[in-house]
Amino acid sequence: MFLKQVNSYLTKHFLCLIILSCFRQIHGTTDRVSPRVIMTKYGSLKGIIRELANKDLQPVEIFYGIPYASAPVGSLRFMPPVTPPHWRNIRTASSLGPVCPQKFPDIRNHTEALKRMPPERLAYLHRLIPFLNSQSEDCLYLNIYAPSILLHKNVKVPVIVFIQGESYDWNSGNAYDGSVISSLASIIVITFNFRLGILGFLPALEEVTRGNNGLMDQVAALHWIQENIAEFGGDIHNVTIIGHGHGAAFVNLLMISPMAKGLFHRGVMHSGSALSPWAIARQAPVFTRQLASKLKCPTKSNVNMVYCLRDRPIEQILNVQLAVPDYLTAFGPTIDGIVIPNEPEVLMGDHNNLYNQYDLLLGVSRMEFYFQFSANEERYGIGEDRRNRLFQTLVGNIYTYHLQEIFYVLENEYTDWERAVEHPINILENTADAISDGLVVGPLFKAAKYRAKGSKKTFVFVFGHQTENSEYPKRYGCIHGEDLPYVFGVPLVGKLAHFQHNYSRSETSLAQAVVLYWTSFAKKGDPNIPEDEEEDVFVDRIGDRFERIEWPTFDNIRQKYLSLGIKPKIRDHYRAHQLSFWNNLIPKLHRSGSGTPPHYSFFEGHDNSHRYDEVAALPSDLVASTPKDNSYSVEVSSASTLFNVNLFFVTSSGPSTTPPVETTPGVDPNYSTATTHLSEQSTYSTALSVTIAVGCSLLILNVLIFTGMFYQKDKSRLEVKLQTHNYKMKMTQETDNLASFQHKQVSRVPPLSPSSQELPPPPPAPLITPIKIPPKPIYATLEEKPVPEAQPLLYHSCRRMAPPSRSSTEEMRV
Ligand SMILES: *[C@@H]1O[C@H](CO)[C@@H](O)[C@H](O)[C@H]1NC(C)=O
Ligand SMILES: *[C@@H]1O[C@H](CO)[C@@H](O)[C@H](O)[C@H]1NC(C)=O
Ligand SMILES: *[C@@H]1O[C@H](CO)[C@@H](O)[C@H](O)[C@H]1NC(C)=O
Ligand SMILES: *[C@@H]1O[C@H](CO)[C@@H](O)[C@H](O)[C@H]1NC(C)=O
Repeated sequence: MFLKQVNSYLTKHFLCLIILSCFRQIHGTTDRVSPRVIMTKYGSLKGIIRELANKDLQPVEIFYGIPYASAPVGSLRFMPPVTPPHWRNIRTASSLGPVCPQKFPDIRNHTEALKRMPPERLAYLHRLIPFLNSQSEDCLYLNIYAPSILLHKNVKVPVIVFIQGESYDWNSGNAYDGSVISSLASIIVITFNFRLGILGFLPALEEVTRGNNGLMDQVAALHWIQENIAEFGGDIHNVTIIGHGHGAAFVNLLMISPMAKGLFHRGVMHSGSALSPWAIARQAPVFTRQLASKLKCPTKSNVNMVYCLRDRPIEQILNVQLAVPDYLTAFGPTIDGIVIPNEPEVLMGDHNNLYNQYDLLLGVSRMEFYFQFSANEERYGIGEDRRNRLFQTLVGNIYTYHLQEIFYVLENEYTDWERAVEHPINILENTADAISDGLVVGPLFKAAKYRAKGSKKTFVFVFGHQTENSEYPKRYGCIHGEDLPYVFGVPLVGKLAHFQHNYSRSETSLAQAVVLYWTSFAKKGDPNIPEDEEEDVFVDRIGDRFERIEWPTFDNIRQKYLSLGIKPKIRDHYRAHQLSFWNNLIPKLHRSGSGTPPHYSFFEGHDNSHRYDEVAALPSDLVASTPKDNSYSVEVSSASTLFNVNLFFVTSSGPSTTPPVETTPGVDPNYSTATTHLSEQSTYSTALSVTIAVGCSLLILNVLIFTGMFYQKDKSRLEVKLQTHNYKMKMTQETDNLASFQHKQVSRVPPLSPSSQELPPPPPAPLITPIKIPPKPIYATLEEKPVPEAQPLLYHSCRRMAPPSRSSTEEMRV
């Protein structure tokens, strides 16, 4: 019986293959124009009907290249998306739209490329290129894959919107073919392009731009779907967004953005979240200025700068090379106070926030960080030296304080102490695990845990199965991106767009199961299918060997997740120890350092650039310009960083000690709550804080006096401290400026052609509260090491202050 099934299956596949190879190129020649005409709000169109390479699958109706917003060209460059123009005749939606202008990794010289990535990655990128060749700024198009059942039946099917990842700088929805999912599960699948790099993510700059336009493109696409998808047979009340990698960060951001509220109902996050260190472009204004100056645009005035950038040919903009620190993002989503109102972590921690209103399914693949190893390293492994450089770069780029300590614990945590000598391949594996955990897995599970406090269901998976025919070495398990072909059901047809592998029979079953889980989640917000409903789905059409098991929800106590492989299993507490390291220990280490003078935060011998991997922290020419001329958000945050640091600077007492608890609190009440874990002395905190308050106000006075004195003596050396002095005044000014900026922005959208209208303007913008960007490199990487000579004096004054406060509290206790 079973053999028979396999046999017939094989025959079919064999036939398919023959037919495929005889009659088809990449996209079949068997496409025909669909009989039905769809009337969208902007004009009518016809799709094409495509038979799939698996005869058990119903054909799909495909609509390629539908404009969902006006071409963001000319004066619309760097502007939020605007609704698309109308058209008159019936449009045949049979060819993919152009992809957005982008900077693909340079892989022209293979010898060079293999020094930066493993050969399998190179091959993958090569398969993507054909889909990314035709670029144009006029790129806001989407593609729709609809099951052919909609041709005959008047039903409404759920909608899945895929948001591609890989990078904020390149890629396109065109490369992802949703036809198998659509056919298999009778669901509509939509892929689309949105603006990338600086075109999509020029940050908010006072008086000219708003930022997050690429994210607004996604909102515009979701908006278009709400307006039009019902005509195609889609259910506007069942829209699910699925994102992979950077796309998952977008899904997460859309989930917390008030702009996208009501435009979708569920989210799926693969291998990424808004909590990953690379998810938010925290230095975007700095990079904007750097890019502008390389293009010889004025950088003093935001208005002139943006106007100049707007006039530059796109090729010139794409040709500029910026040195972006590894693991961080130059141009990407920013916290602008409107589209992303606040730090994602703050929003996600709030139970009542939007984040908790959507159903969520999220997970990772077994190995998330792998593409930075060279071909040779993949083959022979890496030494401790290279590992240390990778770790130092990671720690140096994503943390500010106690870098040396964090590095030591990281090294200790990810060393295999059970072997006398670690094999280079083992070192590579442990290093890759460490960076995976830090960049993707830790943040994603943190996102899951915030969720699990709320009421909506959360489902977590870990994709462990590595394709048998995978080009990658077998020892690591599923590598980042290897799960995607299963989500797109590729094994069922053998080959789909850029996914071109051979899959085994059991992998076909796995793919089917994954599509079933995912689409059932898209339909009901729960990947499980009740027994009695299974009849309705496609299971019986294609023999189903995959043993589907009940997928429990994720909660913070049991932490159950589905381990997806040929034999699925329910497990719990995924990498609990390592993730606790990233989510609990390191933040504590890091936070306890926020009172430390910055140079104690450096690595020992931090000047020695050999210790870092290629591009380490922000290059100094960037940083040098930061405190003086830069945009609103950076200015405020750098000023506030300096402010805090200066205060704590005074109170800290020695190079190697962590700040003694009695000297730090009192300045910011929340700071003290954050550090109370350092001591059990909190019992006498009331008495203490009185003392401290007095002590600190004296200290502030001291600082100010010293500042004044030194300033007159040596202006440049104390420039840094002056910022402190000016901080408050500036803040008030900035706030006023900003208010008028907000006001102007709303009415500043350029005039539109008569045929199109503006997207609904964002609701009256709340005044952007000064964005609290965690104190990042600005200070720690200042070229000139801050205040070298002033230290002893300040320390001195501190010592004088501190002891009395301690003894007096002790007296009070007695
Ligand atoms: C590629 O780079 C290598 C080493 O950097 C160089 O020797 C070689 O000539 C380059 N090949 C081409 C085709 O440019
Ligand atoms: C989604 O579709 C299902 C049936 O497929 C329906 O029961 C449900 O009400 C729809 N809407 C939402 C928001 O789930
Ligand atoms: C798939 O299998 C065919 C025939 O067995 C082989 O020629 C081809 O190279 C394989 N493709 C991949 C990507 O492994
Ligand atoms: C401290 O935190 C509380 C709640 O977490 C908040 O209401 C308050 O405004 C914060 N205070 C400061 C000074 O940040």
